[in-house]
Amino acid sequence: MSTEPFNPSVMTFETLLASIENNILTITINRPDKLNALNKKTVEEIGVAVKNGETNNDVKAIIITGAGPKSFVAGADIAEFVGLSVEQGMALAKAGQDVFKQIENCSKPVVAAVNGFALGGGCELSMACHLRIASDNAKFGQPEVNLGLIAGYGGTQRLIQYVGKTKALELHMTGDMLNAEQALTLGLVNYVVAQDQLMAKCSEVIEKIKTKSPKAITGVINSVNAYFENGVDGFNAEINEFGKCFATEDFKEGTTAFLEKRKANFTGK
Ligand code: COA
Repeated sequence: MSTEPFNPSVMTFETLLASIENNILTITINRPDKLNALNKKTVEEIGVAVKNGETNNDVKAIIITGAGPKSFVAGADIAEFVGLSVEQGMALAKAGQDVFKQIENCSKPVVAAVNGFALGGGCELSMACHLRIASDNAKFGQPEVNLGLIAGYGGTQRLIQYVGKTKALELHMTGDMLNAEQALTLGLVNYVVAQDQLMAKCSEVIEKIKTKSPKAITGVINSVNAYFENGVDGFNAEINEFGKCFATEDFKEGTTAFLEKRKANFTGK
């Protein structure tokens, strides 16, 4: 296993751990004593870490996970909610949504390694990632109604995309948790594996994606996201992304390799 050069000055965080190995940036939310609840600082740092990963040429994919064996993220930090005004509540939601949209629109694949509770903002964070791989102890839910709240980091808009309106409304209104198998059955997660296999499974999926054209992967992300964007014609977005591929070296390499009956070696150019 190779370890790429790593500049700690841009990747040292208060609430996160970040490391790059085999061209994969792993961002670990590191507040295990609070079940990795997302305070303002954590949300802000996730945004910085993802941006750093997106702009770092050594990084081909990003994994987001939580520290410890129990929790991915048990929600936004409830302690920070106390005494907020309507305006401050809206600002909090906007800040979270902005970072989660940044993850969703990241040009490199972002995988959530869901290692336990993914509740509230944790469920929302996982849903902003392109893929979700869960350990068998994972639990998903939007329990904000228990606090007299609703989801604010995009949960009302994203859960419906994965599980449909029927189940999304039920989950938001009851606050019930889904176990990993239920999440798999509903299409909320891509895979469920034993906890000690979680990071290996994430790497396995990423290694497969890494053999493809990074340019094409970005085109896939942009086109699929366009389906869910208000006022955007997704078919038109696909036409544009498809067309853009023809100007890439990756396209030339991919087609040439096919015709020469060899494996393509994509450079992301
Ligand atoms: N915000 C702030 N702190 C949180 C938190 C959150 N979302 N979730 C857990 N914590 C803290 C607890 O307050 C506790 O801190 P303490 O030891 O200083 O008292 C610590 O994490 C451990 O949590 P605890 O509740 O003791 O663990 P548990 O195993 O008994 O229960 C949960 C686990 C996830 C069921 C429970 O912590 C919970 O319901 N958390 C809130 C989930 C939620 O409503 N999320 C949406 C928020 S909008």
